[in-house]
Amino acid sequence: MAGNITFTMIKPDAVAENHIGGITKMIEEGGFRIVAMKKTRLTEERAGKFYEVHKERPFYGDLVKYMSSGPIVAMILEKDNAVEDFRKLIGATNPAQAEEGTIRKVYAKSIEANAVHGSDSDENAQIEGDFFFAADERF
Ligand code: TYD
Repeated sequence: MAGNITFTMIKPDAVAENHIGGITKMIEEGGFRIVAMKKTRLTEERAGKFYEVHKERPFYGDLVKYMSSGPIVAMILEKDNAVEDFRKLIGATNPAQAEEGTIRKVYAKSIEANAVHGSDSDENAQIEGDFFFAADERF
């Protein structure tokens, strides 16, 4: 149902530092159900495509390199009001501004290595989920 799913990635630093369990625990305790989940690695080309909306931004090149620098964990999450509630759970893009109790407050290291991605709209949640998961990978 539209509005009830969002998409997230656990970013390369957080995966490399063994925070998959800690982050998924915060996600589940936040009331989200994991519909789909996979550990994978983006090529630079695929990372570039995923972040295409930021193509003109000055940080785009570094972001693409960072996001393809190691494995990530992609997930589709379900909850009422999923997109907005998940943005609240992850906290501000810049961890220096992330509130207590948010995933980025606990796990983000910098504005770039900020532990997790979260879709910013229902439309993007669908597009981003489709980028990683086929219909028979969602339960
Ligand atoms: P953005 O969509 O603005 O943030 P969010 O992930 O909170 O939706 O930016 C996408 C990613 O780009 C962000 O998670 C980290 C990276 N980024 C930078 O590296 N530098 C920056 O100045 C900004 C704004 C983002």
